[in-house]
Amino acid sequence: MLSKTLEAKLNDQIEKEAYSSQLYLAMASWAEMKGYSGVSTFLYGHSDEERQHMLKIVHYVNERGGHAIVPSLDKPDTNFNDLRSVFQRILEHEVSVSQSINDIVDLCLKEKDHSTNNFMQWYVSEQMEEESLAKSIIDKLDLIGTDSTGLYFFDRELGNGNAAV
Ligand code: FEO
Repeated sequence: MLSKTLEAKLNDQIEKEAYSSQLYLAMASWAEMKGYSGVSTFLYGHSDEERQHMLKIVHYVNERGGHAIVPSLDKPDTNFNDLRSVFQRILEHEVSVSQSINDIVDLCLKEKDHSTNNFMQWYVSEQMEEESLAKSIIDKLDLIGTDSTGLYFFDRELGNGNAAV
């Protein structure tokens, strides 16, 4: 049985994952509108993944005797300066999500809730991967700069599923 405190924290995390999905959806739409079809494919996929992250927590909370609450969401940013600023924003967002995952793990340890701690370890690993992917994409964009051929190939590779090329 989840404590009320952990249930509330997990419900906050449901909101954060849902907002991540909305934010990446807005970025995907911006990229599609700008003609970056590969980047938009990547971001639409990323948005779907965030929805799955949210759903996993919804099921977990309900299975452990809590009540997962479906949140209302703030409207995400809809305009971005360029691709680099999109991925910089993703990195900053993921760092803040990692912090909130870490806070939940801290609470699990404090409450000696080993099941929830175990459940949250998947998110700990996932956050490491997401931060490192965003960093590697930013590094790649810094190398390319404003070179249009480089951006063309970057977009194509990202659309082909080669995110960290
Ligand atoms: Fe579900 Fe990107 O954190």
